[in-house]
Amino acid sequence: MTLALAEIRTIATTPFPDQRPGTSGLRKKTKVFQQPHYLANFVQSIFSSLDGFEGKTLVVGGDGRFFNREAIQIVIRMAAANGFGEILVGRGGILSTPAASALIRAEKAFGGIVLSASHNPGGPDADFGIKYNISNGGPAPEKITEAIFAHSKTIESYRIVEAPDVDLDALGETRVGEAKVRIVDPVAVYQSLMETLFDFPAIAQMFRDGFTMKFDAMSAVTGPYAKAILEGSLGAAPGSVLNGEPLPDFGHHHPDPNLVHARHLYDLAMSDAAPDLCAASDGDGDRNLVIGRGQFVTPSDSLAIIAANAHLAPGYKGGIAGVARSMPTSRAADRVAEKLKIGLYETPTGWKFFGNLLDAGKVTICGEESAGAGSNHVREKDGLWAILMWLNILAARKQSVKDIVRAHWAAFGRNYYSRHDYEEIASEGADALIDGLRAKLPGLAGKNFGALTVEAADDFAYADPVDGSVSKNQGIRVLFADGSRIVYRLSGTGTAGATLRVYIERFEPDPAKHDIETQAALADLIAIAGEIAEIRRHTGRDTPSVIT
Ligand code: G1P
Ligand code: ZN
Repeated sequence: MTLALAEIRTIATTPFPDQRPGTSGLRKKTKVFQQPHYLANFVQSIFSSLDGFEGKTLVVGGDGRFFNREAIQIVIRMAAANGFGEILVGRGGILSTPAASALIRAEKAFGGIVLSASHNPGGPDADFGIKYNISNGGPAPEKITEAIFAHSKTIESYRIVEAPDVDLDALGETRVGEAKVRIVDPVAVYQSLMETLFDFPAIAQMFRDGFTMKFDAMSAVTGPYAKAILEGSLGAAPGSVLNGEPLPDFGHHHPDPNLVHARHLYDLAMSDAAPDLCAASDGDGDRNLVIGRGQFVTPSDSLAIIAANAHLAPGYKGGIAGVARSMPTSRAADRVAEKLKIGLYETPTGWKFFGNLLDAGKVTICGEESAGAGSNHVREKDGLWAILMWLNILAARKQSVKDIVRAHWAAFGRNYYSRHDYEEIASEGADALIDGLRAKLPGLAGKNFGALTVEAADDFAYADPVDGSVSKNQGIRVLFADGSRIVYRLSGTGTAGATLRVYIERFEPDPAKHDIETQAALADLIAIAGEIAEIRRHTGRDTPSVIT
């Protein structure tokens, strides 16, 4: 075959009106993506929004879900047609989101395309997604995602090379049009990076001394990474990794490591047969779940505990520069930052807001209440990183997860915290609820609800301290005089109807009161949250669909 003669074709197309990227890229039902031209229109809109990539490298990979391989073939041929010089693809089309970020950085690539709908289910009747990451390895900032959306509304054609499919399973190089395509080991770069950050010998010794764990890869992307790192390098017992083969439909499961979809791990951790650590990650490997024997760790607490203990890991031994958390994430990390006398940044929901802070060296550790934690090692949240960090802390402190959590609460106080999700409610009701809250905002301060007084209420806006950009309407906050908080926002990642998220938090300094069941500890605030937003009236629901 005379590959150099491969033909670049310009295909006429018409715009789709619904290609605005959400909290984390474009997510739709798989069938929407499978429509002729749908994916290609979006990919062309990405390339048309970028400048200066001719001859440069693009990283491409995904979480292995249904349509991943087909989508990757389209992306490769379009990247070649648009002028990229080299396309790096994870073998089998596999790259976890954090591994894609690590590869972009290690290879000094121009950017990357990640095919994933994260923790949403996969399959022909489930979800698919695509997002673009910039050269720092992080999600494209709003300026770029808005440009992509603008292009998608006026697109008339896209460019694609006429070429046979690339064999995604064979490591090595090939050509598509003028571009070099390199199929790489999806794990190697990521694994070496982890070895530079954590004390692998100490963790391996802890496993030799009898430490036990179960990590559930949920038949999603992290299986190969966890097997290589946990069972391979660190010597965790064979079988420590559950569901370690990535499957296109995630084994019919919902690859979200929360207390609903990973209930079996929670039950195991609370049972007599509990290993020392139960952990899991989501579809694309950026979320984490950490449960010690008899002790669930909320993601907000996990962020605070990681920030307080990061210096125990070799990669962070000089201390951390600062911590960032998304606004709805509990304020447990704020107390750690205060003690360490380092900066604390409160950003809108979504990892893309951490990129500037990390690039500017203002923060080292970031986290979100939605099971995301990470650091300046990449520009995405990183599920296995968080679990390795916990293993490193456990190996260094030689205490159980439960003892570490309880000692943390005793030292810093406990932020009781819960999120109530009302999924797939009608969009009209959801919008009316938020509009209603906005209308009430000016009158809320000073109002009493039972024993609680509202101190302030606003619609969160964020001014990025690095580039000055302002993001408005990022969630309604009701702040009480005693430090309690209720936050309301609509999900930006759903693919059906609207999802209302209500975040509820109360601070309790007294260690004698650290044993209350979370929903009971928050009961009055939960009732107030329903009353202020008139949740029942607007959603028609009496109870949330998911409580985390
Ligand atoms: C959700 C989480 C958010 C996270 C995002 C991507 O977004 O709440 O913290 O960054 O998924 O994993 P949402 O659906 O709330 O917009
Ligand atoms: Zn994810």
